[in-house]
Amino acid sequence: MPPIQDFIRRLPKAELHLHLEGTILPSTLVELSARHDARPITLLEAQSLYQFADFTGFLDAFKAVTARLLTPADYELAAWRMMQRLAAQGVVHAEVFIAVGVVYHWRKHDPNCFEAIFDALERARLRAARELGLSLYWIFDAVRHFSVEEAGRVFLKAAELRANHPSIVAIGLGGDERRAGSEPFRALYAQARAAGLRLTNHAGETTGPEAIREALSIGSERIGHALSAIEDSALLQELKDGKVPLELNPTSNVRTGVCPSFAVHPLRRYFDLGLLVTLNSDDPAFFNSDLANEYLLAHTEQGFTRDELRQLAANSLRASFLPEAGKTAWLARLDSTQ
Ligand code: ADE
Ligand code: ZN
Repeated sequence: MPPIQDFIRRLPKAELHLHLEGTILPSTLVELSARHDARPITLLEAQSLYQFADFTGFLDAFKAVTARLLTPADYELAAWRMMQRLAAQGVVHAEVFIAVGVVYHWRKHDPNCFEAIFDALERARLRAARELGLSLYWIFDAVRHFSVEEAGRVFLKAAELRANHPSIVAIGLGGDERRAGSEPFRALYAQARAAGLRLTNHAGETTGPEAIREALSIGSERIGHALSAIEDSALLQELKDGKVPLELNPTSNVRTGVCPSFAVHPLRRYFDLGLLVTLNSDDPAFFNSDLANEYLLAHTEQGFTRDELRQLAANSLRASFLPEAGKTAWLARLDSTQ
């Protein structure tokens, strides 16, 4: 293995913006189909599900893949595979979105449909903690363009299950920002915060900087993508002053067509300005990437040095929802990684 790739793998790092469903490879989808379908899909058919031309096509593809997760065992398989790949990249802690909003959207006749799925996800998480030493938290993600009511169901379930499952650490809003901003979710975010949940939000991925301001104004603690913040220097100063963690996903932005190339992604400019930027892979199976590859591309496309890559890893640990003692321990390990 070339030394830089080895260095990246050895860096203890956190992945903070990763969708469980977005980690399902076509080969796993074929396996899931073989479990359920009278005529199982072929690898070619599975691969064609992952083809998209733009952001709207990407969201459709994400929904089509999520629709093929049917049973708790399907979720457990997907989660375990994801965790094995995280550990192999030197990810020591992950905070993973589950598209609970999509599950409820399709099964809304059954308000308790998620419990058995969540038990299966927890089995995978505990196994990964035991066998791989991986720490993992869950983020319940709602789809902003469905409806406020549907998001409310997702966040309520997060608050309810959290009582017995502290691994549920936060809530988030994904989906199409062009169809729904953050303002309609203000009361739900306040309720989630009161229930002890942390608040993440996708903002400024396909929309302008005003969407990021709106996300901040409803109490979002971390901003996913924040691509358009680069257009607004006053906002950049606010993000810096407030030490607001940004969950950047450069390859995702390139593949969904909202950024021309990795080389021109604002990652480098945000970093040089001193913003709390973290590097993430979003939906690695859809974008043919993973976190280690994002670090590698930061090095090859934007000239991040080893010390700067170490700083990105430190940011990811600091921006995580781990308790302070956990962060300190990993940061000490990171300091001694050469
Ligand atoms: N769901 C999964 N990935 C997403 C993204 N990049 N933006 C919005 N919603 C998503
Ligand atoms: Zn995302």
